[in-house]
Amino acid sequence: MINGWPESDESKQMLMDQVRSFVRAKVAPEAKRLDESGEFPTEIVQQLGEMGLMGIMIPEEFGGSGMDTVSYAMALEEVSAACASTGVIMSVNNSLVCYPIFAYGTPEQKQKWLIPLARGEKLGCFALSEPGAGSDPAGLRCTAKKIAGGYEVSGTKNWITNGREADTCILFATLDPTLGSKAIVTLIVDTQSKGFSVAKLEDKLGICASSTAQLFFDSVFVPDDCLLGKEGQGLKIALSTLDGGRIGIASQALGIAKCALDASKKFASEREQFGAPISKLQAIQFHIADMATRLQGARLLTWSAARLKDQGQRYTKDAAMAKLAASEAAMWISTKAIQVHGGYGYTKDYVVERNFRDAKITEIYEGTSEIQRIVIAAQELAGF
Ligand code: CAA
Repeated sequence: MINGWPESDESKQMLMDQVRSFVRAKVAPEAKRLDESGEFPTEIVQQLGEMGLMGIMIPEEFGGSGMDTVSYAMALEEVSAACASTGVIMSVNNSLVCYPIFAYGTPEQKQKWLIPLARGEKLGCFALSEPGAGSDPAGLRCTAKKIAGGYEVSGTKNWITNGREADTCILFATLDPTLGSKAIVTLIVDTQSKGFSVAKLEDKLGICASSTAQLFFDSVFVPDDCLLGKEGQGLKIALSTLDGGRIGIASQALGIAKCALDASKKFASEREQFGAPISKLQAIQFHIADMATRLQGARLLTWSAARLKDQGQRYTKDAAMAKLAASEAAMWISTKAIQVHGGYGYTKDYVVERNFRDAKITEIYEGTSEIQRIVIAAQELAGF
């Protein structure tokens, strides 16, 4: 059974064996160097693609692995435990790029755009946020002007994960900023298009090996056949896609927390004070107990949200709960992990220092913890 999950069938066990041996051999040994250099893990991402991990939930006919969301969450936790930067690169491609094309795309769009993305031959980004529209995406200002044969897009997008490397961009823009959410469109944009540029790269606290970019669209022409869904459906596509994205970020947070807990258990067994390993001290045991309990609670919420998605049931609230619980657990556990390590944990010689920096962003992107609480409360009050 995988981490106490009752429905751990053979395919999940095989996936986990494969992912664990890959991350142990190829990802974990590189993570510290990648964090320090800020280098994008090109080779690792390519190998994730070859293993079918860049489009896990996409049916095989569209280049994916045809597995369920629980499998995706399990695999993403393992990858993120080794390298949280690699985790978010994988999460964005799976949840925020492959998923909406699969869910809303035409057969032609799936053939053209989805297959290479799900195979990991191309990489995607999701461009919703703007300098003035983060938590409130309905207020976006990037415009898509209708012209003959397509749209002319102009505007700026902020905090875009994979923005520097992406071949394909899922872009949200408005046909008319005065019409609010009813005028938002989703466009599939080739980043080789004339007028597209990476305006700025953020210098960040954590997830340093993944790029976070500001993107600039200067009268970019996007043909009609790149409209995803219908005109005016853009906000719904964004929010329904983020429901699944939140399961991805929850899984990334679980991985960060797992790494911090594992490191703390190892350190506590080796570090001696007062004539014995500190793991013999009840003060340390209580930290370990609380860390393990929070991690498992958040993990079961995450897998439960994933299972609801797999069963075709409503999962907006459960995904928000999973992301809220897992991201706050990751921050809390990585803080405790430094405490267990004492002075050593405050140095870059120990992985918990990186866990602490990487954990913070999980409370912010794909909806802050405050937004998750708004979503959960709205769903609860509506009786869902
Ligand atoms: N699925 C589908 N449709 C949904 C939905 C969902 N989960 N939630 C809401 N909608 C629909 C509503 O039905 C409504 O449609 P109608 O107008 O037809 O009735 C419409 O969307 C607006 O809904 P609300 O009135 O509830 O929306 P709101 O504006 O009051 O606020 C919000 C909703 C919860 C605050 C939402 O805006 C939200 O989640 N904000 C956070 C955005 C976010 O997560 N940004 C992260 C950026 S992406 C990122 O981080 C990328 C990266 O690279 C990692």
